Amino acid sequence: MKKLILTTLSAALVLGMSACADKSSSSVSMDEQELNSKAAPIVTEEELGLRDENLYTEEGVAPIKADFNRPAPGQAQRFERSYENAPPLIPHSVDGLLPITKNNNACLGCHMPEVAPSVKATPIPPTHFMDFRTQKKLDHLAQQRFNCSQCHVPQANVKPLVENKFTAGYRSGEEKKKSNLIDTLNEGVR
Ligand code: HEC
Ligand code: HEC
Repeated sequence: MKKLILTTLSAALVLGMSACADKSSSSVSMDEQELNSKAAPIVTEEELGLRDENLYTEEGVAPIKADFNRPAPGQAQRFERSYENAPPLIPHSVDGLLPITKNNNACLGCHMPEVAPSVKATPIPPTHFMDFRTQKKLDHLAQQRFNCSQCHVPQANVKPLVENKFTAGYRSGEEKKKSNLIDTLNEGVR
């Protein structure tokens, strides 16, 4: 089974629908003929995927060169949020800061709310000091938020393989620069 015919599913759907509308077998085979006559896009298994290599060989496959070179913390320009209340992208270099380990989380040294203003970093927001199961405020960072880079990602200068046509909508321009999730979390709930 080396060939994947992408139209199989839609053909089945069209045939199924027309079979409901008209039970006569001749109309079903007419549709079938019409569908088969249109050149169905055939993508072989070897060609699937976004890299220009046979998927069954690793020859000639190398990771793209990603340039993670960014200005040091304090020198970087913040990115606009990808959408309202998206986790902000890390705009500065993370050299020597990652990986975060149990005993070493350098991010806290600048981003904890009590230190952030003095180094001009964005303070970790109130949502990260909350237990969402009990809906209660905590007096410490929630464990679920300890591994910052699970949600906040550094940026590399690479060309996307697929053009992204997503455009974010913001209720006001403000949300391009900061989050307000703590205020909008229960919108429509109570
Ligand atoms: C030496 C201090 C320092 C350290 C350490 C640091 N940051 Fe930052 N961070 C900053 C500053 C300052 C900014 C604001 C941009 C700038 O001036 O470079 C910032 C910006 C950010 C932003 C963007 C915030 C926004 O409002 O858009 C994110 C996300 C972030 N840092 C995450 C991290 C993570 C994750 C780590 C740990 C891997 C980390 N930072 C470590 C100082 C630091
Ligand atoms: C589970 C995912 C997750 C983890 C882990 C996480 N964050 Fe966030 N962070 C978010 C999301 C989502 C937002 C935007 C909504 C909000 O404010 O909660 C955010 C917002 C932020 C902001 C922007 C605050 C503002 O006022 O605009 C900063 C700064 C930040 N996080 C820092 C951190 C740091 C530092 C860590 C690690 C100690 C961390 N985050 C861990 C998901 C996460």
